[in-house]
Amino acid sequence: MTLKSLAPRLTAIGSGKGGTGKTFVAVALAQAFADLGESVLVCDADLGLANTAVQLGLANGGDLPGLLAGRIALADAVAHVAIAPHAGFDLLSAPAGTGALADADGETAERLAALLKRAAGYDRVLIDLGAGVGAAAMTLAAHADDTLVLATPDPASLTDAYAFAKLMLKRTGGRAPAIVVNMAAGASEAKRTADTFIRSAQIFLKTVPTYLGFVPTDARVVEAVRRQTMLCALYPQSSAVAAIAALAGQLGGKTGGSPGGQSLR
Ligand SMILES: Nc1ncnc2c1ncn2[C@@H]1O[C@H](COP(=O)(O)OP(=O)(O)OP(=O)(O)O)[C@@H](O)[C@H]1O
Ligand SMILES: [Mg+2]
Repeated sequence: MTLKSLAPRLTAIGSGKGGTGKTFVAVALAQAFADLGESVLVCDADLGLANTAVQLGLANGGDLPGLLAGRIALADAVAHVAIAPHAGFDLLSAPAGTGALADADGETAERLAALLKRAAGYDRVLIDLGAGVGAAAMTLAAHADDTLVLATPDPASLTDAYAFAKLMLKRTGGRAPAIVVNMAAGASEAKRTADTFIRSAQIFLKTVPTYLGFVPTDARVVEAVRRQTMLCALYPQSSAVAAIAALAGQLGGKTGGSPGGQSLR
C-alpha cells in the first residue's frame, strides 16, 4: 500500500494581465502531471468568467458554486477530463457564460483555498487564477505552495506581473511568485523578459524571484484552443508541449524540489 499525504500540493498560475495564457498553461501542466502519474485537479478560479471547460470542449466543467455554497461535496462538484491516450484529470469550475461567482471576494477565495487544501485523493491542484490582482486572485496566490506569474514579452504584461508580485509579497510577508514567460520567440527573448522582471523585483521589492522557464509562441496552441482540445492530443511533438513538460519537471513532484528545480514553498 502506498501512503499518500492527505494534502495536495497547490500550484497557482496568475499574471495580472489578461490573455497571457494562464488557462492554456494550467490545463497543459495538469495533463503533464497526470501523465507523470499524479492525481490532478484543475480549479478554474477565474471566478466571474470561467472558461476552462470551453477551452476543453466540455459541456460540463463542474459545479464550483455548488461546492462553495455547501450544496454538494467536492467529489460531486468536479468533471472528469480524459483525452485518449492520456491520463485523465478532474476540473472544478463554475458554469461558463453564466457570470456565476462574479462577485466572489477575498472571503470566498479563503473558503475555496481551505477546500482545495483538504482536497483528499489529489496529489496536486492547479489553480487558474484568472486575470487581475483582485482580492480573490491574491488570496489564492498567497495560499498556494507554488505560485507562478505568467508574463509575455509584452511590456504591459511585465508591469502587471510586477504588480502581482508586489501584492503577493505584501500578502505573504515576503514570498515572491516564480516567473514563467509565455509566448516568447525563443529562449533568449524569454530570458530577457524574465531578467527585466527579476531586476525590477530586486531593485524595488528587494527580492529575487525564480525564473522557472518559458513556453514559446506556437501557432498550434492557437489551433488547439480554437478546436477546443488539448495541444498534446493534437500535436504531441510540438515545442510548446515539450516546454510544458520541462516546466512540470522544474516544479518537481508533489513534494516539490526536483533535481533541476527548487521548491517554491
Ligand atoms: N504559447 C502560446 N503560443 C501561441 N498562442 C498562445 C500560447 N499560449 C496561449 N496562447 C493563445 O493566447 C490566447 C489566450 O490564452 P488563454 O486563454 O490561455 O489566456 P488566459 O491568460 O487564460 O486569458 P484570460 O486572462 O482571458 O483568462 C489563446 O488564444 C491561446 O491560444
Ligand atoms: Mg483564462
